[in-house]
Formats: sequence, C-alpha cells, structure tokens
Amino acid sequence: MNLGIKVHKLTKTYKSTKRKYGVIRVSRRETKALKGIDFTVKRGEIVGLLGPNGAGKTTTIKILSTLVLPDSGEAIVNGYNVVSQPTEARATIGVITGGERSIYHKLSGRENLIFFGRLYRLTRNEAKERADELLGIMGLQEKADIKVEDYSSGMRMKIVFARSLIHDPPTLLYDEPTLGLDPGFAREIRQLIRDKLHEKCILLTTHYMNEADFLCDRIELLHEGQIVASGTPTELKRQTRAFDVLTLQIKGVVHAEPFKGIPGVSEVTVTSDASDASAVRVHVQNGAAALRRLLDTVESQGGKVLRFAFDEPTLDDVFIQKTGRRIANGDSTEH
Ligand SMILES: Nc1ncnc2c1ncn2[C@@H]1O[C@H](COP(=O)(O)OP(=O)(O)OP(=O)(O)O)[C@@H](O)[C@H]1O
Ligand SMILES: [Mg+2]
Repeated sequence: MNLGIKVHKLTKTYKSTKRKYGVIRVSRRETKALKGIDFTVKRGEIVGLLGPNGAGKTTTIKILSTLVLPDSGEAIVNGYNVVSQPTEARATIGVITGGERSIYHKLSGRENLIFFGRLYRLTRNEAKERADELLGIMGLQEKADIKVEDYSSGMRMKIVFARSLIHDPPTLLYDEPTLGLDPGFAREIRQLIRDKLHEKCILLTTHYMNEADFLCDRIELLHEGQIVASGTPTELKRQTRAFDVLTLQIKGVVHAEPFKGIPGVSEVTVTSDASDASAVRVHVQNGAAALRRLLDTVESQGGKVLRFAFDEPTLDDVFIQKTGRRIANGDSTEH
C-alpha cells in the first residue's frame, strides 16, 4: 500500500440555487472553492493546510474524508482513490471535522468509543481494549462511564480525538482540531499529536499560527482555492526577509492610515487596548531608514513611543504578504 495523501489538480465548485417562490428558481450561485490544487503528505509528516476564511481548507479535508465529491482531479489516500474506492479509503483515515458534534452525547465516553470501534469492524473485545487504552491516554478513565452530555467541552473533545484513533488509522485528517479549546488542553493535544502520532501521516488545518509553527513539518498556504505558497515554517519565514518587521509600543491611540504613506511600508496593523495604549506592527523595506519617519508619524498623532523592536517575522506576517489577509483569529500567541 502506498501510504500517504496525494492530491492532483483537485477542483470543486459549489452550486447553490436560491428558490424564492416554492419551486420557482430565481437565482443560481457558483463558488469555486478549489481551483486545481496539488500537494502530497508522506507518512511521518504533519502538513498544515492554512489560509484565510473561505480559502477551501474544509472542502479539501471533506473531499479526502469522502464526505464531499470533487468535480475533477484526483485524491488518493493510502493508495485508494476517494471517489472510486471510498470505503477502502475511509477505513485508513481518522477524521475530526465539526468538533464535538461527531459523537453521541447520550452515550458514555466508553460506549461511544466501542460503538465507533465496531463500525470500523473491530471485534467487541478489540473495541473494548482499544477504548480502554485511549481513555487512559486521554486521562478519562474515571469519567469513562458517564454520559458525554455531562462532560465538559474539553472532555468531549478528548473523546472526539480518541474516536479518530480507535481503528489506529495510518492517516489523520484534522479540521481545526483545537478550535475553542482552553489553552491548557490545546497544548496537551498538540503535544499528543507531536509526540504520540508522529509516525502517522497528518493533514490539519488551523487558524492558530503558533500551533502551525509548533506542529507542522510543512505548510501549504491556500488562498481562494489555490495554493499560493508551500514550505517548512522556517523556509516560509525566510521568504519574508525581503522586509523588516517593526513593532512600536505606544502610549495613546494612533491610526494605521498615516503610516501607509511612509516610503517602503507595505503592511500596517494597529491594535489598541482600553488603557489608552496601542501597538503598531509594520512591514517595511528598510526598518532603520524608515525609523525616524515612523516615530514622527506617531508623535504627529499625539502618541508617545514607549518601546520599539525589530521582530522575527511570524507565519502570519508571511501570509499577510502572500494573501493580503491575516489568517490568525484573535491573538494566536495566547492560544
Ligand atoms: N456546502 C456549500 N455550499 C456552497 N458553498 C460552500 C459550501 N461549503 C463551502 N462553500 C464555499 O466554498 C468556499 C470554501 O469554503 P471552505 O469551508 O472550504 O473554506 P475554509 O478554508 O474551510 O474556511 P474557514 O477558515 O472559514 O473554515 C467558501 O467560499 C464557502 O462559502
Ligand atoms: Mg473551514
């Protein structure tokens, strides 16, 4: 068996029809979610599929999970074509999509795992043993026989994780696996993925850039249905060496617009907090040369520079440069 994921010229267009009066069709919309993407994920690799909202990440994961049919192109999972051999493909993957909704809340954690184990054709004994093992890994032995509806949401996500691993599949497809988890548990899950699952082939999506940096061997950056950059996190960050990243901590509130007029400045992000302080992050061709103008621009808006620093570019800086959009949801450093 050829282990891993291979995607070639994959396309998907969603067609939606709005019906206004009963069955009378009034309008038709098409969304080109994937415009012909290529990538591979080998065994032992964790690849991050990243991109702004609507880029096509979930669509890709759903096609690979056999939940959505592509229009054209090819998607091969562990040697099986997801369109012509969906049953075989499905047996080799563990999927997380849609978070806690993918387990039965009226069953206990243990019952859920045994149920899904049986679906994957484990014998009753195998399913029981495997459920026990996974409940142990997740630290849920004591709660194993309580209904999932009485779990905390972090505990439910642990069962969702355990479910994806019940048949010990060689390939994992994780769509935003840590979305909405508290930081402590998100860290546990990331550690688990990196330490315990690294011999598998993993494709994951995330909006947390520090998570991508921590977990991914390679990143495929998707934007409007196309892959616009790929490489290791370090390679991608090196590509931004063409400009400096400068952060100014300011007392007072300033606006982004005046900074954009400074020669060499390409991106400006201003964040303010309630206590009359702001931070300005700029991409500028030559930070040292532009510094005087930057400081003047703060002062002319009535602000006072408390501190400035040249920063290492983050993955988010790379993506702003490539797509013109920020990927991170909120403050990724807090996650
Ligand atoms: N069932 C559907 N019907 C119609 N359009 C859809 C459907 N699912 C997704 N789309 C559209 O396809 C595009 C890609 O959506 P997709 O969910 O793959 O993006 P995403 O990268 O996962 O975004 P997000 O970061 O918000 O999760 C979007 O424009 C979306 O509106
Ligand atoms: Mg999505």
